[in-house]
Amino acid sequence: MKYTQAVELDSVTKHYPHGVTALDDVTIGFGAGTFTAVMGPSGSGKSTLLQCAAGLDRPSSGRVVVDGRDLAALGERKLTLLRRDRIGFVFQSFNLLPSLTAEQNVGLPLRLAGRRPDKEAVRQSLAAVGLADRAHHRPAELSGGQQQRVAIARALVTRPAVLFGDEPTGALDAGTSRDVLRLLRTLVDKQAQTIIMVTHDPVAASYADRVVFLTDGRVYGELPDPTAELVATRMLQLEASC
Ligand SMILES: Nc1ncnc2c1ncn2[C@@H]1O[C@H](COP(=O)(O)OP(=O)(O)OP(=O)(O)O)[C@@H](O)[C@H]1O
Ligand SMILES: [Mg+2]
Repeated sequence: MKYTQAVELDSVTKHYPHGVTALDDVTIGFGAGTFTAVMGPSGSGKSTLLQCAAGLDRPSSGRVVVDGRDLAALGERKLTLLRRDRIGFVFQSFNLLPSLTAEQNVGLPLRLAGRRPDKEAVRQSLAAVGLADRAHHRPAELSGGQQQRVAIARALVTRPAVLFGDEPTGALDAGTSRDVLRLLRTLVDKQAQTIIMVTHDPVAASYADRVVFLTDGRVYGELPDPTAELVATRMLQLEASC
């Protein structure tokens, strides 16, 4: 049977020192080929959820399953390999290497894996984000939106089971954000890419198939087929109830 959940969290709790409970018994699944937005007030645990789901951090208790594999059962080496090959991550800051061209930045994960960058994979990845004609530009020669698209191409070059974004449009203006969000939507619709994106912006969230709301490290509720208006209303309710 095909595994249809790309990521599953089962009773995941994450404690930090000084008595902080960043995630409190979170159980949630993210279907393969779906686009989920995660929203909630500052400090509600959104980044912690992503870090635990992406194997960048280990939960204090509970289970995380990515692409059918229980992360707790993997040692550090296997977890590193899974992260490298099956998980893509983009951040608010693009984190591109300034001295490398777009093409070299995109090929970096393959190079770090000790593989010779597959020219065709790099070309396809850049084409998928609409930057085939910018392959030889360095980050300083690209706009913010283009730089984020290079970061997305880099995250996708290994064909990961899931792409995580922690406020990937947070540093972009409204128009540029829209281009990046359209791209993410297209990746889901055309390539069945699974995407999980943290955002503070109801318009950004409206590009997703579903919004998951967090407060105080708990899942507060979900909204299927979100519109920006519905999301904004739910966020106001959520903030009023905190
Ligand atoms: N490394 C850490 N050590 C200790 N506490 C932490 C650490 N990382 C996060 N926290 C705490 O865990 C809680 C959740 O933090 P998290 O970064 O997940 O929130 P967030 O929802 O992403 O917030 P924001 O919208 O501001 O990015 C907060 O109370 C934060 O102070
Ligand atoms: Mg955060």
